[in-house]
Amino acid sequence: MKKILITGGAGYIGSHTAVELWNSGFEPIILDDLSNSNSGVLDGLESITGKRFTFIQGDCNDLAVLEQISKDHHISGVIHFAAFKSVGESTQLPLKYYKNNVGSLLVLLDWMARQEIKDLVFSSSCTVYGQPEVLPVTEATPRQEAESPYGNTKKICEDILVDYVKSKAPIRVISLRYFNPVGAHPSSKIGELPLGVPQNLVPYITQTAAGIREKLTVFGNDYDTPDGSCVRDYIHVVDLADAHIKALSFLSDKTEPFYEVFNVGSGNGNTVLEAIYAFEKVSGQALNYVIGPRRPGDVVKTWADTTKIREVLGWSPKFSLEDSMRDSWNWQKALGERK
Ligand SMILES: NC(=O)c1ccc[n+]([C@@H]2O[C@H](COP(=O)([O-])OP(=O)(O)OC[C@H]3O[C@@H](n4cnc5c(N)ncnc54)[C@H](O)[C@@H]3O)[C@@H](O)[C@H]2O)c1
Repeated sequence: MKKILITGGAGYIGSHTAVELWNSGFEPIILDDLSNSNSGVLDGLESITGKRFTFIQGDCNDLAVLEQISKDHHISGVIHFAAFKSVGESTQLPLKYYKNNVGSLLVLLDWMARQEIKDLVFSSSCTVYGQPEVLPVTEATPRQEAESPYGNTKKICEDILVDYVKSKAPIRVISLRYFNPVGAHPSSKIGELPLGVPQNLVPYITQTAAGIREKLTVFGNDYDTPDGSCVRDYIHVVDLADAHIKALSFLSDKTEPFYEVFNVGSGNGNTVLEAIYAFEKVSGQALNYVIGPRRPGDVVKTWADTTKIREVLGWSPKFSLEDSMRDSWNWQKALGERK
C-alpha cells in the first residue's frame, strides 16, 4: 500500500480524505498539531475504516518532525491541508497566517526534495478569484487581489508552486481550488468541528437548529441574486475528498515536473436562503434566522465551472445540497448525543 502523508489530516477535509484514501487502496499517515482539531477524530476514522491510522502529533513547519516521518515510513505523496483558515483572524494576526500557511509549504517542499517525494496535492481556495466578473468561474478566470491575509497566503502558495515547478524541480503538483465544503461523512462518525463560534454557514445552521446558537443572521437579502442573498457553490466534503484521490492518481502518471489547478465545486450556485430551505426540508424543522445588513467584504456570488476537473481528472460530484444538509445535521445530532 502506498503511504500518503496528510498534513492537517485530523481536520475537517483531511479526515474525510483519509477515509477516501483508505477506500482507494492508499494508507494515510496523518500529521497534525491539533491546533484546530482533536485526536478523537482518529476513533471516528477507525470506526469507519476498521483501521487505526498512524497519527503523528506535530507541526509541519518543523523539518525534524518530517525527517522522522520519512525515517519511519516510505512516503509516496503528500496532501497538504495544514493551514489556519479564519479570514477574520487573519486580518488581526496576519503574521501568524503567513508563518504557518506559507512557511509550512516551504518546509514541506524542502523535505520533499530531500526525500525525493514527487507528488503533492495542495489545498487552495476559490477565495483567490475574489468577486469574479464572469460566472461561472473557470481556472482561467483571473485571480484578484486578496481581500484578506488568509486569501493572500493561498495566492502566494500557488505562486511558489508555479515558480518551483518552472525551475524544473522534480515535483508534480495539483492545486485544488475548493469552493464551499459542506456536509459530513454519511456515517456521522466524522464531520466539521468548529472551535468556538462557527465561521461558516452550515455549522452555524446546524448549531442554531441544535439550540447552541440562538439564531442565524443572513447578511443581506437585497443583492442582485435570485432571492437577494449571496450565492455560493456548496460541495459535499466526501466529493471534495474524492477529488484528492483523483488528483494523486493523475499525478502518478506524469514523468516531468508538472503543475495544474482545478476548481472543485458542485458547479451550481445556491443562495444562502436556498441552503437554509434545503436544511429545513431534510431536518423537518424551521430554522430561527433573521435578515441582517450586508456584511462588508462578502463576495456576492460565485460558483465553479467544473468542466476541467470532470474532463481531465474524471471527477464528478455525487452528493446534492440536500445530502450535504442531511449529513451535516446527522453529524450535529451525533455530536449532541456524545455529550
Ligand atoms: N473549509 C473550507 O471552507 C476551506 C475552503 C477552501 C480551502 N480550505 C483549505 O483546506 C485546508 C483544510 O481546511 P479544513 O476546513 O479541513 O480546516 P481544518 O482547520 O479543519 O483542518 C486543518 C488542520 O490543520 C491542522 N494544522 C494547522 N496548522 C498546522 C501545522 N503547522 N502543522 C500541523 N497541523 C496543522 C489543524 O489542527 C487542523 O486539524 C486548509 O488549507 C484550508 O485553508 C478550506
